[in-house]
This record gives sequence, C-alpha cells and structure tokens, in this order.
Amino acid sequence: MKNIRRKIVYAVCGGIFLVSMVLMLYYGKETFYVDNDTTPPHVYDYHFALITEEVGNEYWDLIETGAKEEAASHNIYLEYTGPKKADDDEKLQDLDRMISAKVDGIISQGISGERFVDLVHKATENGIPVVTVDTDVPKSERKAYTGTDNYYAGFIAGQTLVKDTKGKQYVGVVAGSFDALNQQARLQGFKDAIKSENRIELVDSKESNISEIGAVQATYSLLRQNPEITVLFGMSALDGVGMVQGVGEIDPSDYPYIISFDILPGTLELIEEGKIAATVVQYPKKMGETAVEMLLELQKKSVIQPLHYIETGIIKKEDISNGEIVSEADQP
Ligand code: BGC
Repeated sequence: MKNIRRKIVYAVCGGIFLVSMVLMLYYGKETFYVDNDTTPPHVYDYHFALITEEVGNEYWDLIETGAKEEAASHNIYLEYTGPKKADDDEKLQDLDRMISAKVDGIISQGISGERFVDLVHKATENGIPVVTVDTDVPKSERKAYTGTDNYYAGFIAGQTLVKDTKGKQYVGVVAGSFDALNQQARLQGFKDAIKSENRIELVDSKESNISEIGAVQATYSLLRQNPEITVLFGMSALDGVGMVQGVGEIDPSDYPYIISFDILPGTLELIEEGKIAATVVQYPKKMGETAVEMLLELQKKSVIQPLHYIETGIIKKEDISNGEIVSEADQP
C-alpha cells in the first residue's frame, strides 16, 4: 500500500516536472527569441519628391499613382508631399524642405510668383533637377514640363461652345484659383476662341478654391448676381460636379450649357445624365509617369526635351458608356 502511494507521488511529481519543462521551453523561447533576420533595408537608386497642389485631391491622386507606379518599376523612392488644402505658401515651404533634404529630383506643380523661380534656382545650384507637372513656369530654371497645353485646352473649350450654341450667350466662369497659372492660360485660350463671336459675352468669374463645395458656392453667386447667364465654364477638376449642384440650388428656368474640365468619375456621370454638355480631357496618371521618366533621364544627362505635352480633347455624352470613355477625345 505504501509502495503504491509512493509510486503515485512519483508519477504526479514527474508529470508536474514534465509540464513545467515544456512550458519553460515554450515561453522561454518566446521571451528570449532574437530575430536573426539580417535582411538589409531596401536600398533605392534614387529619391524623388512630388509636390502636389493638394493632398487627397482626386485629380492629384492620379498624378501620384502614375508617378509611384513608374518610380516602383525603376527602384526609385517617391515621396508625395503638399498641403492638405491648396495653399501656395505651404507648397513653397515643401519645395524648400525637399531641397534641404537633398533629394535626387523634384516634380512640382508650377507656382506663380518670384519665390518659386528663386527656389527652382536654389535647387539647380544644389544640383537637384526640377520638373514641372500640370502647370508650367517656363521662366524658371525648371528642366522640363509635362502636362496639358493649358492655353490650347481652354481654346478648345471655347471652340466647343461656339460650335454647340446659337444666338446670344452670357458666360460665367468658375476658376480653381485666379492666381494659378494654368487657370490663367485656360481662360486666355477660352477668350481667344470666342473673341470673334460678338454673340458670346463673358460676364463674370468666381473662384472655387479647387473644391466641390467652393464650386457650388461660386456658381450660386454667379447665377444670383447675373441671372442672364446661359453658359457656365468650370476650369478645374471638381468644378463640373459643383456647378451642377449650384445650378440645382437656384433652379433657373433655362438650364445652362455647362462645359467643364477633366474626366473624374463624377463628371462623366453628369455628362451621361445630360447635365454637363462637354468636358476637356486631361490624363493626370500619364503626367505622373512622364514626370518620373523625365527626372530619371535627368540623372544621366543635364538637358532633355523641355516640353512634353500630354494630349487633350473634348468628351461628350456620345463618347461615354456606363461611366467609361469609349471613344477618342475630339479635337473641335
Ligand atoms: C487642374 C489642377 C487642379 C485640379 C483641381 C485640374 O483641372 O489641372 O491644377 O489642381 O484641377 O482639382
């Protein structure tokens, strides 16, 4: 009897010992495990920066996507930076910061004013090539520009209006920003295209600050202050959608002829619904890709072809099916 009891005690003690050993080995390994992964961090060939007009803007998201995809396929690190809400001072600070960070190349929207010209000069002195995208500043030392020919884009908007309308027309313009050089070039092109038509008169213009809500407000006050308006022309990517909402707030007896910019999904939807008559096409993803290719070329030589215009044209209802563009953009 004593023997059996002793055997039970030994068995229990042995069991406890075994369990503790297993637990100790398991948790000991978890606690004192040292990661032996010695893979070095990824080394990129170049570090480029892309300075946007506005982080989170749908149009700039596409430039970012194009640039990042192109950068990834060439082992380039692409840093995307800029203000959360369009602001020239912040963009200029970012440009200065990227020069101090000694990146290998900078892609930036061209900004009006001498400070941009000075900063591009500073970058050049520091051996950092700058490429402008979307908006050019030819008088700066930027090595090249890629984007739409903004004057031409405004011009074909004007030609389309001339072709599509008859009789007296009063135009209200919504601009992303009056200071933006691309908006100024688009407006100049538009004015030149309509100047021989005495029947078309530009009556007023307001800023949307490149936001949809800004375009709603701009349209509302344009129509309130100028009830004779029969045409609305929006010159930045979110203006088309905002203008349609703004018209809805006033509900004029005659729905205006609306011409917009860009082919973001919301705009294409409204063209299919017949609320926007036409839009000027831009290809922001292609701009991003091309800008990276240009900077890459500039790592090997100091001079490249300075102007790389991305095609543009006009899209109307007949060119869209289920939200997709199904035919080539027209040249009016
Ligand atoms: C312009 C950009 C602008 C964007 C705003 C585009 O049409 O080309 O400069 O930032 O609209 O959404």
